[in-house]
Amino acid sequence: MISQRAQDVTPFIAMDVLERANELEDVVHLEVGEPDFEPPDSVFETAISSLRDGNTNYTAARGKPELRRAIAAHYDREYGVEVGPDRIVATPGTSPGLLLALAALVDPGEEVVLTDPHYACYPNFVRTVGGTVRSVALRAEDGFQPRVAEFEAALSASTRAMLLNSPANPTGAVLDGETLADLTALAELTDTTPIVDEVYHGLSYDVDEHTMLEYTDDAFVLNGFSKRFAMTGWRLGWMVVPPEYVGAVNRLAQNLLICAPNFVQDAGVAALETPPDRLAEIRETYRERRDLLVDAVAEWGLDLGYTPQGAYYLLVDVSELPGAALEVADFLLEEAGVAVTPGVDFGERAADYLRLSYATDIEAIEEAIDRIDAVLSTYGVV
Ligand SMILES: Cc1ncc(COP(=O)(O)O)c(C=O)c1O
Repeated sequence: MISQRAQDVTPFIAMDVLERANELEDVVHLEVGEPDFEPPDSVFETAISSLRDGNTNYTAARGKPELRRAIAAHYDREYGVEVGPDRIVATPGTSPGLLLALAALVDPGEEVVLTDPHYACYPNFVRTVGGTVRSVALRAEDGFQPRVAEFEAALSASTRAMLLNSPANPTGAVLDGETLADLTALAELTDTTPIVDEVYHGLSYDVDEHTMLEYTDDAFVLNGFSKRFAMTGWRLGWMVVPPEYVGAVNRLAQNLLICAPNFVQDAGVAALETPPDRLAEIRETYRERRDLLVDAVAEWGLDLGYTPQGAYYLLVDVSELPGAALEVADFLLEEAGVAVTPGVDFGERAADYLRLSYATDIEAIEEAIDRIDAVLSTYGVV
């Protein structure tokens, strides 16, 4: 008998689109969530020499000291924040870090407050540890920044944690410093622990990025190498843990994860030591792509209503177009040969939206725009 927990995990509807997109020929992919860049050469070289040196066995569950020191140095360099390596736990990606944070915090029946829209997997993580989800609405007119008063209204005696994501998937919104400070104050007042997924940090355009660690030590901050360093399949991430949770998280990591891959941890140190101009160039490329898509959306007569400032996504309201968003996604795939992600996986409030990703080269984005222009005008939509 399949457990109730497993039965409650919802499927990724976007995967159906992906499956169909992969069956068709000549599709332009704007549904991808993976960077189209390669990691820096030094990352490959370090991984290979580390493998040759025999670094293929287990490491300490919390990770190699060199990596944890390099992560601590990263916080100092990027944000001027002092984070002791003793609070850092290396994980095989951000996702396992999220599981450890929730497992350390949430007892069955306790609530976790999320935003809606949110990253598709969050509710399933919460349900896996027996928690229940409560959501706070985000709106395009607010640039998809949360209204702190609504967070306050959503908290109850059984709320254990608030789960935030900045820069965000699927909106591309970047939480501003004031909102982070206000949410920290609210968390302190209500004895709620923030869990902040910062996996897209480094990919923000025209705005300052703030880590939650600038405002409090009492937050779980999750990050990883998948997005900033384009290392999705390497499976490496980290969490910064509130001091009182270090022992519990280490025990959970020892039991549930054993460790992050040994030689990949060495590659992670090399990634963190990459000169900053490389990321600056990548960021500039993403910004150009974003601007191109933002302009195209306006030409399609759709009102984006906000400027996405980070990650590599746009969330576009398609309620003005004929048909439900799922049908619009289907239409774009079948008629224009452009794959996009229907919003439904990202929460009820995203059901009328499509997520467009610009983690693909500019020629492909231009081609997608031309194709969409053509079908929309053929069908008299624009
Ligand atoms: C918001 C968010 N968090 C976490 C992840 C997964 O990251 P990782 O590869 O580090 O597990 C993703 C992947 O798309 C994501 O969008």
